[in-house]
Amino acid sequence: MAMISHLSEIQHTSVMSQEVIEWLVPKPGQIFVDCTFGAGGHTRELLNAADCRVIAIDKDLDAINGGEKLAKEFSGRLEIVHSSYDKIDEVLESKSLEQVDGILIDAGVSSHQIDTDTRGFSFQRQGPIDMRMDQTQETTAKSIIEDNTIDELANLIRKYGEERYAGRVARHIKEACEAGLLHSTADLAHVVSEAIPKRDARQRRIHPATRTFQALRMVVNGELEQLETFLQKFPKLLLNGGRCAVISFHSLEDRVAKHTFRELAKTSSLPPKLAEQAGERVHPICHVLTRKPITATEDEIARNPRSRSAKLRVCQRSEFEI
Ligand SMILES: C[S@@+](CC[C@H](N)C(=O)[O-])C[C@H]1O[C@@H](n2cnc3c(N)ncnc32)[C@H](O)[C@@H]1O
Repeated sequence: MAMISHLSEIQHTSVMSQEVIEWLVPKPGQIFVDCTFGAGGHTRELLNAADCRVIAIDKDLDAINGGEKLAKEFSGRLEIVHSSYDKIDEVLESKSLEQVDGILIDAGVSSHQIDTDTRGFSFQRQGPIDMRMDQTQETTAKSIIEDNTIDELANLIRKYGEERYAGRVARHIKEACEAGLLHSTADLAHVVSEAIPKRDARQRRIHPATRTFQALRMVVNGELEQLETFLQKFPKLLLNGGRCAVISFHSLEDRVAKHTFRELAKTSSLPPKLAEQAGERVHPICHVLTRKPITATEDEIARNPRSRSAKLRVCQRSEFEI
C-alpha cells in the first residue's frame, strides 16, 4: 500500500522562479502545464503572474496531497493530476485539451522527498532502500539491486552516476545484499563508502555515496527515459507561439533537452522546393530561445545552494504545421 505523508503542504524552494515567469510570459486566459508540481512553487508563481489556468502533474502522492490547499486557493484555475509527465498527452486528453500555451518541467527530486526518511532518497538518513517518487510503482532501489547482475548494476552506476569506481561499488553492493546486510539507506551508504578507495573518498567534495544514490534514484524513477519520451511528445501539444521550459540538474538530462530543441529547430539546407521533394523539413518546428542555458544568479545560489547545478532551456513552437 502507498504510504502518504500527511502534511498539509510540502517543503521545497523553487529554482529560478523569476526566470521561469520571464520566459513563459503567462497572460490572462492562457493554459499552462506544470509537469513537476512538487511543492507548487512554480505553479503559484504562474497563477499569481496572470489570470491563467494551470494543469499540474506529479507522480508523488505527497505532492498531490500537499497541493490541495493551493488548489482551493486558486479554485477553478488549478487542477492537480497524479500522473507522470511522459503521459502528458493522456493528461491533456483527460481534460479535453489538445494544446496549451506553455509547459514547464523542473526535473529531479524535491526537498520533501530527500528530507523524508521513509522515502529512502538520502544517504544521510536512515530509511528503507526505496527511492520511488511514485509510491504506487513496484520497482524500488532494493529491487533494482536484487534484480541486476554486478555488471548490469555497474553499468547503471557508471552511466547515471558517472562513478569512477562503479565496478567496485556494484560488487560491494551485491555482496552485501546477498549476505543479507543491506536493510537501510545507512547500510547502503556505508557499503558504497567502503568500496571507494580511501584516498579518493577524502579528496571528493561530495559524500562518497552521492553518485551511486543519484544513479539508483534515476533508474528507479526512469528519469532520463521519461524526459526523452516527453521531449518527443511536447511540440504537438503546444499552440503556435507556445513555450516549453526545462530545468535540469543532471548533465544527461540537459544534453537530451539541448539536442531535442536543436533538432526541432533544424531545417533542410536545400531550397524549399528541393527540400520538399527530398522529404526534408522546410520550416522549423520550434525556435530555440536560449542558445546557452540560463543558470541561477549568485544571489539565488547563496540563498539556495541546490540551484547551483540547475540549467534552464526554453523553446517556442513555430507557426508552421507539424
Ligand atoms: C524539483 S521538484 C519540483 C518542484 C516544483 N517545481 C516547485 O516549485 O515546488 C520535482 C518534482 O517532480 C516530480 N517528478 C519527477 N519526475 C516526474 C515525472 N516523470 N512525472 C511527474 N512528476 C515527476 C517529483 O515527484 C517532484 O515532486
